[in-house]
Amino acid sequence: MSEKIRGVKGTRDVLPIDTYLKDKDPWVRVGHLQLIERTARELFPLYGYREARTPILERTDLFVRGIGQETDIVGKEMYTFDDKGESLTLRPENTASIVRAYLEHNVNQQEPETKWWYLAPMFRRERQQRGRYRQFTQIGVEALGNPGPRIDAEQIELLDRWLRKLGIAFEMHLNTLGDQNCRPNYREALQKYLRSRIDELCADCKKRVETNPIRVLDCKNPGCAEVAAQAPKMEQFLCDACRAHFAGVQETLQRLGVATVIDPRLVRGLDYYTRTAYEAIVPSGLGSQSTVAGGGRYDGLVKELGGPDVPGIGFAAGVERMALLLAQQGKEETVRPVVFFASLGPAEEARADRLAQQLRAAGIAAEVSFRKSNPGNLLKRADALGARFALVLGEQELQTGRAKLKELKTGAQHEVALDDLVRAVKELP
Ligand code: HAM
Repeated sequence: MSEKIRGVKGTRDVLPIDTYLKDKDPWVRVGHLQLIERTARELFPLYGYREARTPILERTDLFVRGIGQETDIVGKEMYTFDDKGESLTLRPENTASIVRAYLEHNVNQQEPETKWWYLAPMFRRERQQRGRYRQFTQIGVEALGNPGPRIDAEQIELLDRWLRKLGIAFEMHLNTLGDQNCRPNYREALQKYLRSRIDELCADCKKRVETNPIRVLDCKNPGCAEVAAQAPKMEQFLCDACRAHFAGVQETLQRLGVATVIDPRLVRGLDYYTRTAYEAIVPSGLGSQSTVAGGGRYDGLVKELGGPDVPGIGFAAGVERMALLLAQQGKEETVRPVVFFASLGPAEEARADRLAQQLRAAGIAAEVSFRKSNPGNLLKRADALGARFALVLGEQELQTGRAKLKELKTGAQHEVALDDLVRAVKELP
């Protein structure tokens, strides 16, 4: 026998069955993802977001310029390869791609404000952990052309509503990162402070002090966290415009009734952010990968990618992380057969096939028995499928044209005419 070929490390199969109750985690099934997706598809358009789909492959330069050379993503996590002389990358995130598409199609010249959402796989070569994969899915939104602050709050309220709708318990953390006027001063002060305590930092943060000092603030290492706790805060350095913007975001959120936690250590891992930054963090259920969604304002990105001075703000949520939480709650979306036909011979099978076809055409899920078996086993099969009713078709039923719809949970029976089955099923409470 030849050897089995296994999936790539950091990627996962999501199947409809749960034979995978390994680890302690409930296994994520397709139905969890569908529930998350459906709620997004219903909710996001209510806020004006329309779906956009961009390619998985982009030119490497898009991410180097967009996300920033000194970030972990660009520095060590991208799947980059040479395509006959051109460097291409499997997208590690979608904001840069969305901005590229927006500029490439001159959308800014056609509409002053743009709101797009997406559902798409992303690729980062990270160390695999629960809730952290090398291929993962994001559902995100991007609003371009609106300087805020009201849209910042509108978008945070959308994320808040979506997660609540799914029954996910989380805290919405909020911070401001300043802009090109005030952040350089903060960066300098922070760098000065960090240099004075460099010996207490981890090896990565020792480097970050020179390359990306703000990232030291969210390092999980206890030594770094202690240094970060006493570090100067962005708040003290904000320029008047950034201060007013942040106040506007908070006021609007208060009016909309969205609770937030002001978190001066929330800095985000991508370099394009300015002003508003936010993350939905779950207190439990995901271990160390506790951020289900993150985003913020990126007022300089469109320009950085060769476009005009157009402001933007967006977020992306990790679908697998959300699905793990739903799996723990036992919540998922499934279509179960409403009627299972148990037929006992060839003539009955032929009738069952047609009846199932009629039900499905009327929007009612139906399943037929494909295996020969006795009525007891067929009923067991109906039960395993989660059917609501079983209908046993034997010689007698074909002759009389009448059969019994058996409610599997209660055992209650309803006599129905086969010629009128669709109406009968629809009329049952
Ligand atoms: P991000 O914080 O890098 O932001 O990712 C957003 C979310 O994607 C995270 O909160 C997490 O739930 C999920 N995620 C990230 N990496 C992984 C992974 N390796 N495995 C599983 N889930 C993961 C962005 O990507 C920005 N583009 C968000 C944004 C949109 N900012 C403005 N607009």
